[in-house]
Amino acid sequence: MIKAPEHISALRPYMPGKPIEELERELGIKNSIKLASNENPIGPSPAAVRAITAGFKKTLNRYPDGSGYYLKTALAGKLSVKPDELILGNGSNELIDIAVRTFLAPGDEAVMAHPSFVVYSMAVQAGGGKAIQVPLRDYRHDFGAMLNTVTPKTKMLFIANPNNPTGTMNTQEELDGLMAKIRDNMLVIVDEAYYEYVMNSGYADSFKHFRAGRNILILRTFSKIYGLAGLRIGYGIAHQEIIAEMNKVRPPFNTNSLAQKAAIEALKDKGHIKKSKEINNKGKSYLYKELSSLGIRHVPTEANFIYMPVADSMDIYKKLLHNGIIVRPMGPAIRVTIGLPEENRRFIKTLKKLRVKS
Ligand SMILES: Cc1ncc(COP(=O)(O)O)c(C=O)c1O
Repeated sequence: MIKAPEHISALRPYMPGKPIEELERELGIKNSIKLASNENPIGPSPAAVRAITAGFKKTLNRYPDGSGYYLKTALAGKLSVKPDELILGNGSNELIDIAVRTFLAPGDEAVMAHPSFVVYSMAVQAGGGKAIQVPLRDYRHDFGAMLNTVTPKTKMLFIANPNNPTGTMNTQEELDGLMAKIRDNMLVIVDEAYYEYVMNSGYADSFKHFRAGRNILILRTFSKIYGLAGLRIGYGIAHQEIIAEMNKVRPPFNTNSLAQKAAIEALKDKGHIKKSKEINNKGKSYLYKELSSLGIRHVPTEANFIYMPVADSMDIYKKLLHNGIIVRPMGPAIRVTIGLPEENRRFIKTLKKLRVKS
């Protein structure tokens, strides 16, 4: 068989979970709950659902608007940016890939934290670049250590703020300090997939550096608080010259027409965002309280998931799975998405039953 180049065959593919119905069939269980992918447990805005059900039959035979004109106009108004400072992606995931293919030449290096969102290193390696992974410190990005790994070959630096899987954030002071040391031939990608959930007033405003004309690409998504993960739509904000280069690499029809329509409505529905945040905050307080009383370590989160360092994460993951609770094993921890109140209660009840300890 034909062989892929070495940098591709060395890659380990992203392991998606099995469909929930299939898992239930295999394990002989029912009514399982998915707390594994940091989705919005209340689903999307009803207005977004109405937008895609109304009249979609009329448009499915047509290609989508490749420029995403109406969605970009809506985003530009909301964010006070120009439409040509925006790029839409098939999820923010695709924008990570496009950024790498645009700005990283084979042999270039990209710095990122570990553990952080796995797609950064996969995209860099698939692009023939070298991923330099820098351990977190106290579960947070260690900007000093990341800067120490920068070499003349470094072209890119990834920051997930808040970080996945730990839910931690970096402050304004930290980001300002980092940006002061970034060379003009480097791009900083600030991935803000969970930005809408952040409650901490010290959270870094990345727009400050975008407005100052720096080499920064800010990524956001409709997959998390907006509840549209299945439609695959996200966006990036950067200087128009950065966006123009990325548009050369972007597939012409990368975001579909239903996703564009739903996203426009989702943006307008402030009530849905407020409700989603409230459910998350209440769930967070409940889980903190219960985990503390069970003596289970958990890292304070700015996102919609909680990182719990445990002794044997695979074992706990499997036991939870057999009890119909799907979480994400993450090396020395499990990551649980904050769910609906009844889902959180069931999670805690099961931890108690299983006598889980840190
Ligand atoms: C930090 C981070 N960035 C990006 C993504 C990808 O989101 P999207 O669904 O927009 O591709 C995720 C999804 O889990 C994430 O955790």
